Amino acid sequence: MRFSRLLSPTSKQTPNDATLASHIYLIRAGYIQSVGDSGLYNYLPLGKKILDKVSAVVKEELDKVGCQEVSLSFVTPQSLWDESGRSQEYGKELLRFKDRKDNDYLLSPTNEEAMVNLVRNTVKSYKQLPLNLYQINLKFRDEIRPRFGLMRGREFLMKDAYSFHASTQDMQREFSVMEETYKKIFTRLGLDFRVVQADSGQIGGEGSKEFMLLADSGEDDIIVCDACDYGANVEVATDASEGDICACGASLRMTKGIEAGHIFQLGSKYSEALKATFLNDQGKAQAYQMGTYGIGVSRLLAGIIEQNHDDKGCIWTKASAPFDLHIIVSNIKDEAQLALGERVYEMLKARGIDVLLDERKDRFGAKIKDYELMGVPYGLIIGKNLSNGMVEFVTRQGMDKTEVDATELDSFLAEVL
Ligand SMILES: Nc1ncnc2c1ncn2[C@@H]1O[C@H](COP(=O)(O)OP(=O)(O)O)[C@@H](O)[C@H]1O
Ligand SMILES: [Mg+2]
Ligand SMILES: [Zn+2]
Repeated sequence: MRFSRLLSPTSKQTPNDATLASHIYLIRAGYIQSVGDSGLYNYLPLGKKILDKVSAVVKEELDKVGCQEVSLSFVTPQSLWDESGRSQEYGKELLRFKDRKDNDYLLSPTNEEAMVNLVRNTVKSYKQLPLNLYQINLKFRDEIRPRFGLMRGREFLMKDAYSFHASTQDMQREFSVMEETYKKIFTRLGLDFRVVQADSGQIGGEGSKEFMLLADSGEDDIIVCDACDYGANVEVATDASEGDICACGASLRMTKGIEAGHIFQLGSKYSEALKATFLNDQGKAQAYQMGTYGIGVSRLLAGIIEQNHDDKGCIWTKASAPFDLHIIVSNIKDEAQLALGERVYEMLKARGIDVLLDERKDRFGAKIKDYELMGVPYGLIIGKNLSNGMVEFVTRQGMDKTEVDATELDSFLAEVL
């Protein structure tokens, strides 16, 4: 991509209501744009690109373990939620509306009912089980206090998966598979996270675990052990406190987490309520055992930045970065600088490397500020020193610079990228 063609309106202005680094930088770097201060956001081209990259990691890992992607109607008839009783329970977060024929609908905040409905209309026999269906799409929750940018929006991108089983044992097996799959997803995205015991809350069911991104700005209090993998949300470990002794003998530590994922053993709560049954191996109708698994995909963008930023801007992890390399031609009036920038840009593109070429007329100072704000992991500065045959390779983390001989640039880049 050529910067001169890119719709990426960077800004020096901190948005009025923004306090978190991720909220400030995602807007200032031109990734997202607030729609009327109401927890609603537009994604500009690079924000959309990052969202797609993160979604692709989620999709790849789920597909590997046999999950199948679907896409449910975003609008759900309220009658389905009447069957589960949640149209009464869910309260004001649920956005409801009527169509022209006076029928009641809602904008899905989560899809247990809709997915159970799909399965009860489709699956007949235990031979078709187990089944794990997921989607990555918008959810709507009329949050009482939407805040912190993508962290708590009213409309947000969520991956929600639902599994269906003939036995509790098989559902618990899948729960473990999903726990491992989530660990792979968060690890690939370069995140520092802990899995903690959690409250099942409003969705109901038996066991539940949350995936917490460790960050001072997190809204959840969690207690963790650094010697073993024990961790719990203080919502369930209500009497836990700093320095308590873990079952492994080490001492526990209180910290803050951002809830990025949540997995539940649901049991038959929804399948029974919606009378969703299959014929078991005895030929008898039986309600499904279910699990449900969520990842806040748009919240992950905020989480990545909460964990990876400095006082100048974003520092994307490799798997989430909008580009692999950001080339800055310091002065485009210098023919040698521009020619080298163009050549390296075309060469890397041909090799399938995703590269941004800043060939704008602007001064170097403005371009390097944009580089720092936007946070591509690696940069290449082609500047004055090219007259001595040298260019500069930059690592966004720490802004460490390495002088590279221009004649050795191609092999240098082939090695680091
Ligand atoms: N308002 C929101 N904005 C952005 N992401 C959200 C929001 N609410 C939930 N999420 C994400 O969706 C995931 C699954 O949702 P769920 O566990 O039902 O949410 P909650 O625990 O807030 O009720 C959460 O782990 C979180 O990452
Ligand atoms: Mg949750
Ligand atoms: Zn321990």
